[in-house]
Amino acid sequence: MILNHAIESILSRRSVRAYRPDQIAEEELTDILQAAKFAPSAMGLQGRHFTVIQDQQLLADIVDAAVKNGASFLPGHSPFYQAPAVIVLSVPESAKYGREDAACAIMNLMLAAHAYGLGSCYICCALPGLRDETIMKRMNLPDGYVPCGCVAVGYPDGPAPQPKERRTDDVNYIR
Ligand SMILES: Cc1cc2nc3c(=O)[nH]c(=O)nc-3n(C[C@H](O)[C@H](O)[C@H](O)COP(=O)(O)O)c2cc1C
Repeated sequence: MILNHAIESILSRRSVRAYRPDQIAEEELTDILQAAKFAPSAMGLQGRHFTVIQDQQLLADIVDAAVKNGASFLPGHSPFYQAPAVIVLSVPESAKYGREDAACAIMNLMLAAHAYGLGSCYICCALPGLRDETIMKRMNLPDGYVPCGCVAVGYPDGPAPQPKERRTDDVNYIR
């Protein structure tokens, strides 16, 4: 494999689950959002919306709402890992490829975060909280948009975890 910055970045990114409490720098936030916006989207419609949540009370309320709506977390487990920022991706309810658009944007965002030395983790287990009526109102989403995923972002507290072995039985070729 030819190692260049892009490939090295892809190979060394890990899901980070421990963060320092300090807020991420404004310029870094702007840049990782810009990287996310450059992700591909179905028909180039850019049918996704980003909500940056840095209000810890709102994040705590999202966790409570998730539990109220059926999610369960281990005692003492915080699904956002005390990250200083969580970026929520929402898509129009009617969008045919909304989830796909959001997932592409999240991947770009995580790689850009990693390039800046930030940690990130794609988090879906909080969705029942993000989709709670009262929480959606507080997120001030555009009309008709529904959350479909989020990413915790912050400065990692400690070294990145080792990668899992990659499967070797998951590619076939038709030639
Ligand atoms: C769609 C999706 C949802 C995920 N949801 C969660 C989650 O709720 N909580 C969590 O800690 N990690 C979550 N992850 C992160 C995965 O657990 C992680 O990517 C996987 O274990 C591989 O580790 P790596 O990202 O370090 O390579 C999610 C990842 C994806 C792609």
